[in-house]
Amino acid sequence: TLAEAAAEAGARVTLIAGPVNLPTPARVQRRDVTRALDMYAACLEVVTAGCDIFIATAAVADYRPMVTADHKIKKSTEEVHLTLIKNPDIVAAVSAHDNRPFTVGFAAETRDVISYAQGKLENKKLDMIATNDVSGENVGFNSDNNAVTVIWPGGHKVLPLASKRQIAKQLIELISIRQGSK
Ligand code: C5P
Repeated sequence: TLAEAAAEAGARVTLIAGPVNLPTPARVQRRDVTRALDMYAACLEVVTAGCDIFIATAAVADYRPMVTADHKIKKSTEEVHLTLIKNPDIVAAVSAHDNRPFTVGFAAETRDVISYAQGKLENKKLDMIATNDVSGENVGFNSDNNAVTVIWPGGHKVLPLASKRQIAKQLIELISIRQGSK
């Protein structure tokens, strides 16, 4: 929805998408990836080539299995142990890049929403973070509606409950204002 809102606002948009069953919005160039490492590589490639704004909406897996199987794993032992290794933080790598775009992150939280989001804004060195409380049933995940608080260094704005389409439009407007003022 954000990619669509950005394209409608006149941006040239590259959408790096994980495996989702969603249509690609008009005038959006889409690159499909499956693994977090591939998303990391694709994002850094785009940022290295140059982009003005990077919006990190993907819920990237924090860990990946150290070993993957080429074929179905047959049942044998009673226990199977998986070793998981940490995935790179894509948005943090983008914000630390020499060719750094205006970098926007997201934070879905179930408690202490603002303080956790503030921590992520600082730790990941973001220009802006959009955060929402996903503990309720009618907002955020599995819902067409959302309500977010947008935080940047030195300010914030509440975008009250609205359709995800309306929230996306307001977010793109806010991003373009903040990016323009930097
Ligand atoms: O730390 P957490 O996963 O809660 O932070 C969420 C933000 O970080 C989102 O913007 C998400 O797209 C981004 N992220 C990322 N790479 C990861 C994990 C999260 O870019 N490996």
